[in-house]
Amino acid sequence: MKIKSLELKNFRNYSSASVQFGDGLNVLHGQNGVGKTNLLESVYLCSIFKSPRTTKDKDLVKLGETSATVKLVVEKKYRKHTILLQIDSAGKKKVAVDGIPIDRAGELLGILGVVFFSPDEMKLVKESPVERRRFLDVGLSQQQKSYFISLQRYNKTLKQKNNLLKEYRYSSNIDDMLDVWDAGLAKEGAILIERRKQYIATLNDAAGKFHNIISGQKEQLKLSYETSISGADDISQKLLEAIKASRQKDKELGFCSVGPHRDDIKIELDGKDSRKFASQGQQRTIALAMKLGEVVIYRDDIGETPVLLLDDVLSELDENRQKILLQMTNEFQTLLTCTQYDLPVPASKFLISDGVVKRG
Ligand SMILES: Nc1ncnc2c1ncn2[C@@H]1O[C@H](COP(=O)(O)OP(=O)(O)OP(=O)(O)O)[C@@H](O)[C@H]1O
Ligand SMILES: [Mg+2]
Repeated sequence: MKIKSLELKNFRNYSSASVQFGDGLNVLHGQNGVGKTNLLESVYLCSIFKSPRTTKDKDLVKLGETSATVKLVVEKKYRKHTILLQIDSAGKKKVAVDGIPIDRAGELLGILGVVFFSPDEMKLVKESPVERRRFLDVGLSQQQKSYFISLQRYNKTLKQKNNLLKEYRYSSNIDDMLDVWDAGLAKEGAILIERRKQYIATLNDAAGKFHNIISGQKEQLKLSYETSISGADDISQKLLEAIKASRQKDKELGFCSVGPHRDDIKIELDGKDSRKFASQGQQRTIALAMKLGEVVIYRDDIGETPVLLLDDVLSELDENRQKILLQMTNEFQTLLTCTQYDLPVPASKFLISDGVVKRG
């Protein structure tokens, strides 16, 4: 799929901007602090309905203004969609697709597919499992609405259960309530575990290939899903048993300590745990391979390529890796930001200066 155009009004540091993107590689260049990442953020919002970098949506509105709008036109194989996003100064977001208001984020998912890569994504390898679960949840939710629905139900139930465990853990009569919630957690949690396992198995192949290309086949990357629930059958039943078995402990802890909200992606290079041992360069290569793998899985499953958003990643990569990455961008529409434009490949170029976008 391709983003044809993007219009911003009072979004971050943009008063009013309008961009018509080209196919393939689009380079957004300009000095630090001019609004390059802000522009990618606006695109990401039209896909995921959440910012990749803030949870304070009111910060998305230009200081001193009352509301921001982002209007994006995406062209897919068989049709075009116009996404109109509005954010008010309290941070409340509203979205309409082709003029029809949408109440739930789940309905926006799947309209515009994106894969976002920034230097922050290095966190994927070494930081806490939260980042790796987010990677899975965002990737899967974009491809499978049913995954997103299960995820929402699971998280809601988990929150209620944790509140109860925190507030009333010493009361004797919470077990009936816990039984109800545990059944819900086991049902939805099993869906999350099954889908994540499948996704990681596919990603292991796709990311492994990219990793070989980028690293020159020096080391073998292996990705696997790490969960306390073993085996491939009866996951729901096993999860329920595990949750029940830890009830006493969880009452003492004051939170639910078993389930997919505690799972992780195991990342290994030649059998060594990269989460502990990967060097900076290895982390970069792994994160990039995982992101490119995400693009390919999306394309193979959905039959459309997602738009690749590359924020400031070139300076982080050596020349060879830059070349490999840029070669790939021929195949998809890519929006790439950088401070200096000196790429040896053809691209549509945009110069950004203080919230103004110009071709060239
Ligand atoms: N709500 C807002 N209202 C006005 N300006 C804002 C708002 N939010 C962010 N900005 C401004 O946007 C600018 C940062 O934009 P952005 O992060 O997109 O820069 P960048 O071009 O990606 O820079 P770098 O090359 O350093 O990554 C800052 O000057 C910041 O003050
Ligand atoms: Mg930036």
